[in-house]
Amino acid sequence: MAFPYNSFSRTIRSIMSPRNLSQPSSIHLNQPQTPLFLKSPIHQTPLSSLTQFQTWAKTLIQSKGSNFPTIDNGPDTNHLFRELKWFLEDAGFNRDDDEDIVRLRVGLDELYLLWKQRIVERRPFQYVVGCEHWRDLVLSVEEGVLIPRPETEVIVDIVEELIKKEEEEEDENEVMMKEGLWVDLGTGSGALAIAIARALGKGGRVIATDLSPVAASVAGYNVGRYGLQDKIEIRIGSWFKPLEDVKREVVGLVSNPPYIPSDQILGLQAEVGKHEPRLALDGGENGMVDLLHLCEGAASVMKSGGFFAFETNGEMQSKFLLDFTMNKSKGCFRDVKIVSDHSGIQRFVTGFFV
Ligand SMILES: C[S@@+](CC[C@H](N)C(=O)[O-])C[C@H]1O[C@@H](n2cnc3c(N)ncnc32)[C@H](O)[C@@H]1O
Repeated sequence: MAFPYNSFSRTIRSIMSPRNLSQPSSIHLNQPQTPLFLKSPIHQTPLSSLTQFQTWAKTLIQSKGSNFPTIDNGPDTNHLFRELKWFLEDAGFNRDDDEDIVRLRVGLDELYLLWKQRIVERRPFQYVVGCEHWRDLVLSVEEGVLIPRPETEVIVDIVEELIKKEEEEEDENEVMMKEGLWVDLGTGSGALAIAIARALGKGGRVIATDLSPVAASVAGYNVGRYGLQDKIEIRIGSWFKPLEDVKREVVGLVSNPPYIPSDQILGLQAEVGKHEPRLALDGGENGMVDLLHLCEGAASVMKSGGFFAFETNGEMQSKFLLDFTMNKSKGCFRDVKIVSDHSGIQRFVTGFFV
């Protein structure tokens, strides 16, 4: 096993208790960092100093960043130049500004420090600016929380499609998916939970769980930013442990668990391997440890007819999971299929519980 399954399970943040969910006891975790673009523009900076910074930052990209693609398939200089532009925008610099003094969201010293971290330490751009744009959301992220990836957005498309189909087919009283309880296991920044909660009806609820207290805290922050405290409850604990009180009540389960094989972690691009949490990446032997655990355990929480969607590393893992549901867990699942992501990679396994 790649990491110990933790037996503790607790709940955070019940600022406004979700109506249909169990009452959590509040605990206080560190406040997540405020993304750069949400900080106040209080640092008056001469335009000439900003121009000097830009020259220095571009030189750093050319001297160091130009090697990233050869070192580990990292970002190329064009991409890094784009990041520099976004970085300055988030920091409060509008290129059309021709005032002598610019009001930035960080001081000049910090501007240098952050860009140095980006290029010299390969700190991911999203951690530097403290957020990631994902679907129509801007999600806060920081060290200890996986940066949500574009391919995972497809899970939301699948869920939206399912809800739409249900509405078209069923009578008004039978909108189980739209009005039921969903779970997002290993929620990270809360990306899936937030996007799904926005697609649900008035009675629809999501429990978003994570073993990492940092992730739970950041997810809670993001849930609050989108005003979804009434719909989403964040719980801390290992996989099904925080769901003891909702057995057989869940109509939809989504999860993008860690699925990178342990022996491939070292070979990852520095931004990922050195900076993103191992807990979010390492799926143990063949990367399948958590996927299989989730597949085996899901039946205990699911309502009959409930839907599931798991993200995998691609072809081999998806096929393995499909075989597993067809053979070993035969009789538990129906309509199991593999769904590709936007790059054509067989990324997801979806289906229903009998
Ligand atoms: C690949 S990340 C996915 C994060 C988020 N769902 C997303 O798509 O951006 C996997 C998540 O699972 C969490 N995790 C790892 N082991 C866990 C466990 N035993 N129980 C619950 N969550 C776990 C990690 O902390 C991480 O947030």
